[in-house]
Amino acid sequence: MDGKSQEWLWPSPATVSSPNSDSNGPSFIRLQNLLTGEQNTDTFHQQAATTPGCTFRRCLGSLMQVPSQTKRHNGLKPKEVVIKEAKDFLMEYYASLRKENTEAHLKRQADVIDEIQAKGLYELTEQELTYGCRLAWRNASRCIGRIQWGNLHVFDARDAVTPEDMFNAITDHVKYATNKGNIRSSITVFPPRRDSMHDFRVWNVQLIRYAGYEQADGSVIGDPSNIEFTKICQSYGWRGNGGMFDVLPLLLQANGTEPHLFEIPEELILEVPISHPEYDWFEELKLRWYALPAVSCLLLDIGGVEFPACPFNGWYMVTEIGARDLGDTNRYNLCKPVAQYLKLDTRSETTLWRDKAIVELNRAVMHSFLKHKVTLVDHHTASNTFMQHLDNEQKLRGGCPADWVWIVPPISGSATKVYHQEMLNYKIKPSFEYQEDPWKIHTKGSQRKFKDIAKLVVVSTDLMGKVLAKRIRATILYATETGTSERYAKMLKKLLDIKFDAKVVCMADYDFSNLDYEKLVFIVASTFGNAEAPHNGEEFGRRLHFRAHPIDLNASRTGSLHLPRRKSKLRANETEDRTSSFMINVKYSVFALGSRAYGENFCAFGRSLDTLLRDFGGERICPLGEGDELCGQEESFRSWAGKAFRAACETFCIDAVDHSDATTSLTTIPSWSENNFRLVFDKKKTAAGLLEALSELHSTHIEPLTVLSVTNLQSSSSLRSTVLVKLKKASESNLCYFPGDHLSVFPRNDPEIVDQLLRKLADKESSDITTQLEYLSNEGIWTVDTHMPATFTLREAFMRFIDITSPPTPQFLHCLTSLAMDQNDRNKLAELAKGSKEYEDWKFWKNPGLIDVIEEFPSVRLPATLLLLKLPRLKQRYYSISSSMAMTPDEIHITVSVVAYHTKSGKLRRGICSNWLNSLKEGESVPCFIRAAHGFRMPPDQSVPIIMIGPGTGIAPFRSFWQQRLADKNREAAFPVTVTKETRFGKMTLFFGCRESTKDDIYMDELKDCLTNGVLDVVHKAYSREPGQQKRYVQDLMKDHGGDLLHTILDEDGHIYVCGDVSMAADVSRTIQNLLIDYGLFDQEDAIEYVKTMKERGRYHEDIFGITLRTGEVTERIRKAAQR
Ligand SMILES: Cc1cc2nc3c(=O)[nH]c(=O)nc-3n(C[C@H](O)[C@H](O)[C@H](O)COP(=O)(O)OP(=O)(O)OC[C@H]3O[C@@H](n4cnc5c(N)ncnc54)[C@H](O)[C@@H]3O)c2cc1C
Ligand SMILES: NC(=O)c1ccc[n+]([C@@H]2O[C@H](COP(=O)([O-])OP(=O)(O)OC[C@H]3O[C@@H](n4cnc5c(N)ncnc54)[C@H](OP(=O)(O)O)[C@@H]3O)[C@@H](O)[C@H]2O)c1
Ligand SMILES: Cc1cc2nc3c(=O)[nH]c(=O)nc-3n(C[C@H](O)[C@H](O)[C@H](O)COP(=O)(O)O)c2cc1C
Repeated sequence: MDGKSQEWLWPSPATVSSPNSDSNGPSFIRLQNLLTGEQNTDTFHQQAATTPGCTFRRCLGSLMQVPSQTKRHNGLKPKEVVIKEAKDFLMEYYASLRKENTEAHLKRQADVIDEIQAKGLYELTEQELTYGCRLAWRNASRCIGRIQWGNLHVFDARDAVTPEDMFNAITDHVKYATNKGNIRSSITVFPPRRDSMHDFRVWNVQLIRYAGYEQADGSVIGDPSNIEFTKICQSYGWRGNGGMFDVLPLLLQANGTEPHLFEIPEELILEVPISHPEYDWFEELKLRWYALPAVSCLLLDIGGVEFPACPFNGWYMVTEIGARDLGDTNRYNLCKPVAQYLKLDTRSETTLWRDKAIVELNRAVMHSFLKHKVTLVDHHTASNTFMQHLDNEQKLRGGCPADWVWIVPPISGSATKVYHQEMLNYKIKPSFEYQEDPWKIHTKGSQRKFKDIAKLVVVSTDLMGKVLAKRIRATILYATETGTSERYAKMLKKLLDIKFDAKVVCMADYDFSNLDYEKLVFIVASTFGNAEAPHNGEEFGRRLHFRAHPIDLNASRTGSLHLPRRKSKLRANETEDRTSSFMINVKYSVFALGSRAYGENFCAFGRSLDTLLRDFGGERICPLGEGDELCGQEESFRSWAGKAFRAACETFCIDAVDHSDATTSLTTIPSWSENNFRLVFDKKKTAAGLLEALSELHSTHIEPLTVLSVTNLQSSSSLRSTVLVKLKKASESNLCYFPGDHLSVFPRNDPEIVDQLLRKLADKESSDITTQLEYLSNEGIWTVDTHMPATFTLREAFMRFIDITSPPTPQFLHCLTSLAMDQNDRNKLAELAKGSKEYEDWKFWKNPGLIDVIEEFPSVRLPATLLLLKLPRLKQRYYSISSSMAMTPDEIHITVSVVAYHTKSGKLRRGICSNWLNSLKEGESVPCFIRAAHGFRMPPDQSVPIIMIGPGTGIAPFRSFWQQRLADKNREAAFPVTVTKETRFGKMTLFFGCRESTKDDIYMDELKDCLTNGVLDVVHKAYSREPGQQKRYVQDLMKDHGGDLLHTILDEDGHIYVCGDVSMAADVSRTIQNLLIDYGLFDQEDAIEYVKTMKERGRYHEDIFGITLRTGEVTERIRKAAQR
């Protein structure tokens, strides 16, 4: 501070305005920038914690440590103080989430107060801790690098018990933060103070520092500032090498016990040899400095809870090393030697040799860190970013506590911007605090013997192995409709578990508020509907989307969730346009599952999650992976998983296993062994009820519906069947649905196929005996496995729970390889198990079910436990409901196309569910639940005209629409109201398509009635195979009636509903776009945008069944295109 003019160091009366001043001083303090003349008014200091400090008589501004503010080691704060600080902190925390004074906030506050009353302190949640740590940094008035405060990575080590635990956590911290030189700001928080006896402390002032050895003549080798601590380490048995730059060991105290010594593994300490950009002689000085400045002596105070051990780091500013560590006369004191090398006249201060030398020292440090790619900031840049920080904080909080004495760099003061800025210093909580040196308050145990010392060294060496294997937590979130994403997520877990502590969570079960606090997140998610989330990813997607577009929340609730799509490829500087820094510490990567059959909607949900996470500040460590179910999905997944795993290892500085190991681990996953699983049969037991078991397996409440009738809607001359299945609800059931919703049906496998399979099993005699699936736990105890219901029979399992007809996955084939007796079978299976092109071709041509595999590889032995564990679950099928509760309140109708086709290799195949439904007799039971289709509801305003387009079975939901309209009309006829615009019924137009008028023109009579009684206004029918007529599709009719159609859409704000096959739906969308262009209303770009906007605004609805029309042809075409 010498030489700074007094008149502007202390706010002059003119700069202190006092409109609201009270006994604590003025409410507003004006701060000037002496360079620019700008003024700011600090109001934030009003929230400062009241601590004794400066008075009108004297200023303590340049004291290193104000004695009265140094935390004494005298136990917990009084309860009322903890309660007050906790309340203040929770208010700030919940306000940051925009949830202040909500039920959640008040409940948390009440719980915390109870906890404090009972125990004197409380436990911060992980999220609160993270937030508190970041705030403490933000409030640290002496730190110039605070613009980074939101980026602090928090390691929660509050579960540490022993010094070894502390050592593990610290080495983790050092590894992560060092990051091969790309330094990351981090903090590790050890258990809080609980009383006056059991503190956790890191005795080192910084985690990495150089020893100072005092010599007999009073000189010092090494860093003089560490003489005292070096002696303490020596008294605990440490023997340094006596060099200039010996890294001191860690001295760690757990739970108030005697501290333990640990050497930090050499490979974890990054040091930079110092050279100069111009002077070669500099290397003769043999200087070096460590990369990671990690302060470990301060106490962290968050919400009244004190953490006496909380090492944290940012990165160095050059002057800290060049000017202070190397230049200060009470440190390495190198100005003179450098000046001598520079041949400067050191006899008189007037030559300014000291200043020249110190600049060269700083240049050398800067040059060396840059050369070795180690993060380091120069003091000018740091000063500029701090000015930016002040500006940000002024806008956000009305001020920023700042200690000018510390902020202004030790050299070139007035050449930096901060020098000219008035600052106000005050204390805001949470905060970092000075505390007493641990060795001054610790009563040392008896002097250690050499044996003990030797033991300590052994412990330390032994720990190094463990340290290097320490796990970072990874969260794998999946969203799935038909189970594939879940399976992949579990495969990924096996791979990640090699180096991380991974857990798999369904998005629906995930606490969204944890997302900001994750370290490593992987997402595996499919797309369903049309560019929509699978049902168990809807809420997660909606919440993420809501963060970006808060006002859209209601829209996305009522309409379909059309998440934003990526508009353009990522740019090189993508980090700069992030919209937020919420998830700044979250490293992530996404794998999206989808089908190219869905065109521009391919993998839409996964893609939008990937973009949203990045927009929220997440760091994408590996590019988005995409897997097309029509071509090599699993192979794409494996390739992405391998890359994502390696990227995660690199990010967290973990030595990755080599590529082949990772790939092997993916193919052998999941590991099943005959010795680890068994079936325990018990003739006396009865199996669990079917509904109960299905509900348990699918985590959904499943109800039985009873068959009333199954009627073929196609004529007897047709070779195909489409059936109307009428189901009745149980009298006590409260199943409800709206027109447009889906019925989820749990099917049954063909009993003949099941019989064939059971005959092949080793346990065939026991097929109908109640059994239980058990696995051998790590502790050697047989435990019930939850893949299956608690009790079941094998026949029931293969009829109801296990999918035995879908083509087996490569992993399953891998398991079979070792069970094949014949070498040829083994070879072929091994080849297919690679999941490469050969597998894809095999699957495409044969569409093989399990029975086909058994026939193709007859030497394979099939243990039942393998099938139960490794085959997928038999999934529910969806059917668009074809009835309205307003017409038949106790019934649910569905329109089912009975699936039968020939594989490419010529075998007849029958769809499981549709054929089962077709075979049902009156009174039989169908396990079901309702799946709401929010995006396919009739407009709430019944006067809005609607256009329905659904060829073939796509007509199914429209029967529920016309039934609803009929019921509404009947009700109105019974209770007439004055007809106004609002009560008038809008026009209903149907476009339907089928092959021949005499064969599959389903619901023909019902439609005639609807036209007669005015329920439907117009029905257009397209016949594609009508003898003697030209082929017509619904799209052709739309073109024929384009004028009417556009009038309904544009002039009457009509809604469009499209149902059925995905390619048809895309064609229909294109047809509308083309009509808009052909009628001269829009150019191409605007037409596309118009239809897109209709979809987003909930005026264009799609109910997509998947690929159902011309399935073989379409899949082959897409497959070929994908292979090209
Ligand atoms: C939201 C939604 C709503 C639906 N609504 C209805 C509805 O109202 N009515 C209706 O009938 N269906 C509807 N479906 C389809 C229905 O869910 C079933 O997919 C359908 O009944 C077939 O099931 P399955 O068990 O009989 O056939 P599966 O045993 O599941 O066999 C079907 C599989 O066989 C293969 N396949 C089928 N045809 C061919 C072919 N020609 N060449 C090669 N492979 C082929 C495909 O892999 C196909 O996925 C809907 C689907 C969804 C997603
Ligand atoms: N998951 C499944 O695999 C699944 C589910 C349901 C149904 N299916 C199967 O799919 C078939 C569907 O039966 P369905 O009664 O719903 O329909 P469909 O009788 O096959 O077809 C209905 C009408 O749509 C036409 N069409 C075909 N492609 C079209 C397109 N791109 N755009 C507009 N119209 C098009 C057909 O013409 P064409 O004369 O050109 O065919 C026909 O006129 C059945 O064979 C059934 O087995 C499979
Ligand atoms: C009815 C239906 C709709 C689908 N919609 C899309 C879609 O819009 N985009 C896409 O890429 N894939 C779509 N798919 C394909 C699925 O994403 C694909 O089958 C995926 O592998 C399913 O993974 P899951 O089992 O984890 O749900 C759809 C599939 C079905 C059956």
